[in-house]
Amino acid sequence: MNLKDEYIKFFVSKGHKQIPSAPVIPENDPTCLFTTAGMQPLVPYLMGQKHPAGTRLVDYQKCVRLNDLDEVGDKTHHTFFEMLGNWSLGDYFKEESIAWSFEFLTEVLHIPIKRLAVTVFKGNDTVEKDTESANYWKSHGIKEEKIAYLDAENNWWGPAGETGPCGPDTEIFYWRSNDDVPEKFDPEDERWVEIWNNVFMQYNKTDQGKFVPLKQKNVDTGMGYERVVAVLEGVDDNYQTSVWKDVIHKIEEISHLPYQGNEKSMRIIADHLRTSVMIAGEDIGIKPSNTDQGYILRRLIRRAIRHAKALNIDVSSHWEEQIASLLIEQYQEYYPEVKRNKEVILNVLKTEKEKFSKTLEKGLREFEKAISHLQDNVIPKEVAFKLYDTYGFPIELTIELASEKNMKVDEKGFQEKFKEHQEKSRMGAEQKFKGGLSGQGEMETKYHTATHLLNAALKEVLGSHVHQKGSNITPERMRFDFSHDKKMTEEEKQKTEDLVNDYIKRAIPVEKLEMKKEDALKLGAEAMFIDKYGDVVTLYKIGDVSLEFCGGPHVSNTSELPHFKIIKEEASSSGVRRIKAKLQ
Ligand code: SER
Repeated sequence: MNLKDEYIKFFVSKGHKQIPSAPVIPENDPTCLFTTAGMQPLVPYLMGQKHPAGTRLVDYQKCVRLNDLDEVGDKTHHTFFEMLGNWSLGDYFKEESIAWSFEFLTEVLHIPIKRLAVTVFKGNDTVEKDTESANYWKSHGIKEEKIAYLDAENNWWGPAGETGPCGPDTEIFYWRSNDDVPEKFDPEDERWVEIWNNVFMQYNKTDQGKFVPLKQKNVDTGMGYERVVAVLEGVDDNYQTSVWKDVIHKIEEISHLPYQGNEKSMRIIADHLRTSVMIAGEDIGIKPSNTDQGYILRRLIRRAIRHAKALNIDVSSHWEEQIASLLIEQYQEYYPEVKRNKEVILNVLKTEKEKFSKTLEKGLREFEKAISHLQDNVIPKEVAFKLYDTYGFPIELTIELASEKNMKVDEKGFQEKFKEHQEKSRMGAEQKFKGGLSGQGEMETKYHTATHLLNAALKEVLGSHVHQKGSNITPERMRFDFSHDKKMTEEEKQKTEDLVNDYIKRAIPVEKLEMKKEDALKLGAEAMFIDKYGDVVTLYKIGDVSLEFCGGPHVSNTSELPHFKIIKEEASSSGVRRIKAKLQ
C-alpha cells in the first residue's frame, strides 16, 4: 500500500479533483521563501476566487519548513516533507470532513479506533466552543475521554503569514507506543502523536488584526506524509521507514559505516540532500548563493558536506551524486520535474561541493585553533566572521560546531560585522567605480595590525631601543623599518616570527581608545611622530602586547590575521633595519 496513492484515491472517490503539487518555491509570492503547507498555493481560492478544478480538491504538496532546521538529525524532523491534503472551497464543512477523515483512518489505514484521540477548539472571544466537531467525533464512536478541548494556541490554525484565511481546527492523534492505550487522552503525553489537522477556515485575519468571516466556509486538512508512514510501519525513527531506508542504506554503503552510532550525520545528509534536490529541481532554477532560497540551498549542501566529512566519506568522490540520483529515482514518479532537471541538480551539488570542500578543512582547523585560545565559551564575532568570509562557513554551521563543544557564538556581533562588511563592500564598489581604490582594503587592514604586532615582538626579542621608523603596505606584503644597528640572527628572526604568530593565535581583541596625548604618553604608548598628533589622540591597544598612537583602521581581533612570515631582513639606512613580511 502506498499512502500517497491511497489518499488520493480515497478523496477522489468522495468527489475531489486531484491537483498537482505546486513548486516548493512559491509562485508570485515574494513574501515567502518556500511553500510550507498544502494550503499556501490555495490562498486565493480559500478567499473566494473560483478554482478551475472545482470546490473539492486533493493533493500531495512538496513543502519546506526551516523552523526545525536545527532539530534535523533527530528521529522525526525534516526540512522537506510532503503534506497530504484535501480541501473544500465553500463546499462541505465539519460533518463530512470529520466523517471522511475517520473513514480513511479506520477503514483504509485500518487504525483501531481506540488508538485515536482528538483535540477541538475550546472557544474564545471570537469563536464559540466547537461542540459541533466534538459531537461529530462522538457520533463515530470517539469517546468523550478521548477528546481534549484546547485554546487557540493549539486549536487555531493560521493565517500562514500576517493576514489571510484561518480558523479553528480539530487535530487527530495516534497512540504510538506499545504501552496500553490509556482511557483518558492527555495531549501532553508524547506517546500521542498528531497525524492530521482539519482546519475549518471561515475567517480572514485583516491587517488590523480583525477576524472577518470569509465569503465561504472552507475546509483545509493537512497530514504529514513521513510521520504517518512511520506510524503505519510501527517505527519511531522516521529514517527507518520505507521513505528513507534505501537512502540510509546508500549512505552506509558509501561511508562503510553502520547507521547505528552514526545516526545524526546520516540523517542530516539524507534530509539535506533531499531538500536540496527538491529546491534545485524546480524549473525556476535556484542556484546556491548568499541570499534568499539560494542561501538556504547553500547552507543545506554545505552542512551535508560537513557531515559527510564527519563520516570520513571521501568528499571528492561521487557520493553526493549517488545519493541524489537515488532520491531523484524515488521521487520522479510524483514530481517529474526532478527527473527533467536531473542534470541541473547534480551539477548544482557538484559545483557547490567543489567550492566548499576547498576551504572546509582549513576552516575547521581555524575553528579548532580559535577555540583552543578562548578564555570563555563564546566564539568571538571575529572568528565567526572570518569563518564565513574566508572559509565560506554559513554562520549556522559555526553555531553547530560550537554547540557540539558546548560553546556559543557571538551571533549579534557577527550580524553587526556582517552588516559592516556589506556596507564596506558597497562603499568599496562605489570607490572603484569612481576610479580609485582607497587603499584600506581588508588585506591592508590586516597588514596594518601586523605592523603593530611586529613592532611589539621586535621590542621583546631585540630590546626597548626598537622603534618604528617607517612602513609600507600593499595587499600582498608589508615592509617595516625599525631602529636597530645590526643584522638580526636567524634565531632572532625565528623568535620574532613565532611571537607574532603567537599573538595571532591568542585571538587578542584590538581596541580603539581615545584620550589626551599626555595621558597616552604616561601610559607608555608607542608613537612614531609624537608632534604629528593633536591634543586628543587615537590609540590602538592590543591586549598587553601593544599600545600605539595610530589612526587605524585595524582588524578587531588578532585572530583575523593569517600566518605571519618574515621573508627578508636587511639594512635600510644607518642604524635602521628593514623587514619584509607576508601574511599567508
Ligand atoms: N494548514 C494546516 C497545516 O498546515 C492544515 O493543512 O497544518
